[in-house]
Amino acid sequence: MAANLTGFSIALMPGDGIGGEVMAAAQSALEVLRTRYDLPLAWEVLEWPSTAWHQQHGEMMPADALARVCAYDALLMGALGDPGPLNDPARYKLTDSVSLAPLLTFRKGLDLWACERPARLLPGAPRYLADPRAADVDMLVIRENSEGEYVNQGGRLHRGTPYEIATQLEVFTRRGTERLVRHAFRRAQQRQQRRGTTRSYYCAEKGSAPAQVCLITKRNAQPVWGELYTEVFEQIAQEFPEIGVTHQLVDAACMKFVQSPWDFDVVVASNLHGDILTDLAAVLSGGLGLAPSCNINPDSRELPALFEPTHGSAPDIAGQGKANPAAMLLTTAMMLEWLGFSDPAEHLRQAVAEDLANNPDQTRNCQTITDSVIDRLHR
Ligand code: IPM
Ligand code: MN
Repeated sequence: MAANLTGFSIALMPGDGIGGEVMAAAQSALEVLRTRYDLPLAWEVLEWPSTAWHQQHGEMMPADALARVCAYDALLMGALGDPGPLNDPARYKLTDSVSLAPLLTFRKGLDLWACERPARLLPGAPRYLADPRAADVDMLVIRENSEGEYVNQGGRLHRGTPYEIATQLEVFTRRGTERLVRHAFRRAQQRQQRRGTTRSYYCAEKGSAPAQVCLITKRNAQPVWGELYTEVFEQIAQEFPEIGVTHQLVDAACMKFVQSPWDFDVVVASNLHGDILTDLAAVLSGGLGLAPSCNINPDSRELPALFEPTHGSAPDIAGQGKANPAAMLLTTAMMLEWLGFSDPAEHLRQAVAEDLANNPDQTRNCQTITDSVIDRLHR
């Protein structure tokens, strides 16, 4: 990835359900920021992947989609999944394994092996925990994004008979584990260095938890990969003597995320554990409507990174203008930061934060929130 004469190019993929509504907000923000900061950015809106594309073409995206997205520097996606409405029997309905497959195809095919999901409770965001210390939640969950429980290998034998056998293989490689764990320590280091500042997600803004990486496993029940993760973690921790280390079994981590989430700094987890923990972490930082996410290859920018909020296509509210665009806007800020535009990224992040702090009303619609954020981008 390198800015050439024409700058960076981005593919906007609204996808399904509320994806289009929140993408419209992101696009407006990008337009304002491009003008204001004279950003060398160009984008194209793609109709795929989407359920609508499937309805027309019999597939979620063209067969050569993976090759085609390599022409871009970044991919910004709204959401994927059957858009509903849920009670309409005539709706075009795909199984999740079909409609969500492009996401996994991009994550694996572009080798986007780290999924970063910051969870910081912004002032004005819904706080679901009664303990006032929950206002200090400021963690970064880093999820393995290319292997583990998501390799989709296995099969069903004697299908439909009482003797049916289903196998679902999990694959954990030393290389995949080492790069993930090392990246988590590096992020902890950056958060420590920028502690107390408000620039980017890679600083511990509230600075309450000590600089620390918490490893998640289920090594008491799944010792094979649990021990590999533990050994690699202990080995790599020695390269970062200034960063604290801790380990939690995933079930206990769920409990502690609720009981004392302010104790966590960087959390590193397998693909499935990270998936589950980041929905929980999203609630700790105000809900899925506020939770950004990115899929990156921290070692290489040769292939495009994929930015998509943690939330899904929310078929229950799709088409009603009710979706909160904040998660999408914060995700767009992560993308700008990844592309090297840290001032516009911070401006966008602050605009979302200020909007939230000044408007605790949770019933505002997508357009109202967008207008308020855009207004702040002009200031
Ligand atoms: C996420 C989603 C995906 C995942 C689904 C849609 C396959 O839940 O991005 O967290 O499990 O990774
Ligand atoms: Mn998920």
